[in-house]
Amino acid sequence: MNASSGSSQTRNKTRLIFIFKTSFHSPRQSIPSRTFYTERQPTESSTKRLALQAKLGVSIQASLAAFIDRSACPVSCAAEQILAVFIQERHALSLRENMCGSNVFLRVLWLFLCRAIASCSPLTADRQANITSMLGQQADRVMALGEWEERWQQNKIGFHQPEVHKMLKNNIDKVLNGRTGVRFFFPLCGKAVDMKWLADMGHSVVGVEISEKAIRQFFEENNMTYTEEPVPAIPGAKVYKNSEKNISLYQCDLYNFSNSIEGQFGAIWDRGSLVAINPGDREKYAALIISLMAKDCRYLLDTLLYNPDLYQGPPFFVPDEQVHSLFGSSCDIELLQSEDALTDKQRNWGLDKFTENVHLITPKSN
Ligand SMILES: C[S@@+](CC[C@H](N)C(=O)[O-])C[C@H]1O[C@@H](n2cnc3c(N)ncnc32)[C@H](O)[C@@H]1O
Repeated sequence: MNASSGSSQTRNKTRLIFIFKTSFHSPRQSIPSRTFYTERQPTESSTKRLALQAKLGVSIQASLAAFIDRSACPVSCAAEQILAVFIQERHALSLRENMCGSNVFLRVLWLFLCRAIASCSPLTADRQANITSMLGQQADRVMALGEWEERWQQNKIGFHQPEVHKMLKNNIDKVLNGRTGVRFFFPLCGKAVDMKWLADMGHSVVGVEISEKAIRQFFEENNMTYTEEPVPAIPGAKVYKNSEKNISLYQCDLYNFSNSIEGQFGAIWDRGSLVAINPGDREKYAALIISLMAKDCRYLLDTLLYNPDLYQGPPFFVPDEQVHSLFGSSCDIELLQSEDALTDKQRNWGLDKFTENVHLITPKSN
């Protein structure tokens, strides 16, 4: 290392310390010292490097603000933000050079630190805050299980479709992917006729639904006999079965269901489910769904996009960003279809735009 690079390194370190100090001093305002960079700009530094450092300063400052707001670990925040800068900006490598020099141990340590903290990123928290703000008035909306029961009792089941769902029909080949005899899971199944359609094709179906009336109607309206028995593992739950068609419908709260009851599934059809659960339960829901996915599972998810400030739901608005934040870390997500689904029904809700998206979600192979 020559003398001039050594002094440049020292200057850069001094500048970083300054950024930390100013950030900590005033975490909620933008870096007060844009002029600081120009005033002390070292003659040999490029504009790009300065811009990067400014960016880094702002990132660290945001991390500190996040720390103050959410009690996150400041070291993780800062390092993760630096990692983000690495990813976005090739020139950040020169920064690593400055901080770790040619010391291989420090470089490896740096990399491990950045990777380890990526999972508890303040960016994740920021993204989460962004999503919550996108949900508008729906973010805190809670619908009790009893309200669903009431809807069934009063026959207010406008969500039920007498025909097989178009999006399922359109995308069934992508779900099956050449497989036969697939085990399908239907969360919040209602009395969807899609279950019979798949069973008629030789697949087996497991559904979960809170309303006993819905389950009984499903079998009766489809002229199927059924047995009913308690589920010892879930107090108060019952399972209704037609063994000939291989359909088992569990009458219980979805969150009492788990992979210890029926194992994992090769396919999931999620229509009227993620969009029906309370928006505040989406993380819990996604964790359950992921735990029910076999390695070769192909999960078809139907979501709805509209302005959540114009209608209170359900169905609730689920932005694509949230689909990615819920499933993206363990699954690959492909948007298969996006259609304008606006009809008079949604116009009566006060909407002038209503889009239906269908995603194919598959576990990442590693
Ligand atoms: C919008 S409907 C959709 C039904 C079905 N997927 C369809 O496409 O027709 C939502 C259903 O979920 C049921 N439900 C709501 N919350 C539930 C929960 N936590 N556990 C089980 N079922 C639930 C309701 O009774 C209702 O039948």
